[in-house]
Amino acid sequence: MADIMAAKIIGTGSYVPDQVITNDDLSEMVDTSDAWIRERTGIRARRITETGTADMAARAALKAMENAGISGDELDLIIVGTSTGDWLFPSTACEVQAAVGAGRAVCFDLSAACSGFLFSLNTAAVYLDSGAYRTALVVGADSLSKTVDWKDRSTCILFGDGAGAAVLRREESAAGTEKTRRGNSEDPAGPDSPGAPESLESGGIGPFFMGSDGNRSEYLTSPSTSLRNMFVEEKPTGYMAMNGQEVFKFAVKTVPEAIGHVLAQAGLAPDDIKYFVLHQANERIIASVAKRMKQPMEKFPVNLDRYGNTSGASIPILLDELNRKGMLRTGDRLVLSGFGAGLTWGASVVTWQASAGSI
Ligand code: UT7
Repeated sequence: MADIMAAKIIGTGSYVPDQVITNDDLSEMVDTSDAWIRERTGIRARRITETGTADMAARAALKAMENAGISGDELDLIIVGTSTGDWLFPSTACEVQAAVGAGRAVCFDLSAACSGFLFSLNTAAVYLDSGAYRTALVVGADSLSKTVDWKDRSTCILFGDGAGAAVLRREESAAGTEKTRRGNSEDPAGPDSPGAPESLESGGIGPFFMGSDGNRSEYLTSPSTSLRNMFVEEKPTGYMAMNGQEVFKFAVKTVPEAIGHVLAQAGLAPDDIKYFVLHQANERIIASVAKRMKQPMEKFPVNLDRYGNTSGASIPILLDELNRKGMLRTGDRLVLSGFGAGLTWGASVVTWQASAGSI
């Protein structure tokens, strides 16, 4: 019987910088207060990097590889989801490759802002499931502290720096037992849809949903540091610009839709999900999603109080915390869901499997 493959997460890791900026620190820099920030966002503190995105990404990657029990030469593929690489080139993924000794791996970055890890995870899973590669490192890493105007209270209070990583491996098995097919944004829910998995019993990543809308790109922008003065004269500040209320409305609508989509594809109900691992942008957004899904907040872990919005890093940092706290068991169904600039958004079902990476 021919072998069929399914990519699984076999290890996780994360890294946040030591330097902490509290809400009180910010209130000395801009006209804001600890009370306003906590009430409107849930954020109490954030971390700021002194070394940059690649360094954070490499540190998270090494922890994930240690957790998975693999060495760099076992990696076939490295994808880093980031929109704040230290260089336009080389890619952050190539810098990570050098740092972790993954000489055989093919490496590239994926730009999807705060959806970066989710899109990278799905991309790597498709490569692994196709049989092209066996072992992948997926990293979400961002230093949004570099892009915000620290005089703009509407954005600088929200963001922090960090990195999270996962090691994926394709397991081979008897045909029909582990096949997990992938969804796409055009894929309506239904048992015969292209994204419907034939079995979720043995773990894996998927089905997934990914959406993009370039027509609303102006809601959240940040010009490229080295090019900003040449091409973006209409945005003279050169910093991140955000329409917070529109992004908020976009998030509370699209995240439940994306989650509903993948649950329908998987044939699962919200009650079947152990944890909804959402992008950590604003606790009010998370609470709104929980309410729309008619699920208790206990199923929506939160760490944005400590780290703020770490963009592409927020989902893998949270996933690593759940793993290291021993909160995940074989067969647990998780939903990962994120949204961000682009606009981009999406959701993935992850069926956890105890492995070398389990604590
Ligand atoms: O990864 C995706 C990244 N982006 C997001 O997730 C953003 C989503 N949006 C949000 O999280 C919220 O819209 C914010 C937290 C950004 C803002 O909260 P809000 O409840 O939408 O506030 P608002 O923009 O409606 O502003 C309310 C008031 C305004 O004052 P007036 O006009 O009512 O007098 C603002 O000027 O709060 C003022 N304000 C602040 N006050 C103190 C805005 N920022 C601050 C601040 N401190 N930091």
